[in-house]
Amino acid sequence: MPGVFITFEGIDGSGKTTMLQSVALKLQSLGLPVVVTREPGGTELGRALRDLVLTHEMSPMAELFLYAADRAEHVARVIRPALEEGLIVLSDRYADATLAYQGYGRGLPLWMVRQVNQWATDGVMPKLTIVLDCEIAEARRRKGPSTDRFERDGEDFLTRVRQGYLEVARQEPERVRVISSSGPKDVTAELVWTTVASALNL
Ligand code: TMP
Repeated sequence: MPGVFITFEGIDGSGKTTMLQSVALKLQSLGLPVVVTREPGGTELGRALRDLVLTHEMSPMAELFLYAADRAEHVARVIRPALEEGLIVLSDRYADATLAYQGYGRGLPLWMVRQVNQWATDGVMPKLTIVLDCEIAEARRRKGPSTDRFERDGEDFLTRVRQGYLEVARQEPERVRVISSSGPKDVTAELVWTTVASALNL
């Protein structure tokens, strides 16, 4: 496919959304065609699924399939068409989030999560994935008191998710780059931009 697919990952509060937005602005200022999207919630169905999955208690397996349904719709309606048109697609979370959260975090067998990801993505995988990494306590501070997700899921869960992302990066070092988001925001943004620019041959 002629377009380029780049995803941003990390635990809640890691700063991935801010970094994605900064990359999108830079690409736009260079006149490059960019699509900014997210999971869960990158389509109309996805927004309903996001609402469901983030506001209901459910079994890990039900959660796995709701994220997969969101992804299948997202790939079919947004990501694949944009890549076929030659656009640069930046997604705030994608398949690695399911490995990290439902696999490493909730403890579902990794082979099962990988299989479901395979079906949901229909083989569409990012050229580059940036994992923004920081301490759980720092991510929590950044999120502030507005979220109850830290309380709901707990620090142990998020520690497993963080380790899961780092493990995925160890397994696929060509595609997945870990960038620390512990330092000043502009330093992180510069590192992220250098990595993206190099993947795009800019
Ligand atoms: P967000 O706040 O970054 O948009 O993410 C919403 C939540 O969804 C976040 O806590 C991570 C979670 N999530 C999963 O557990 N599995 C997934 O596959 C995805 C895409 C998100």
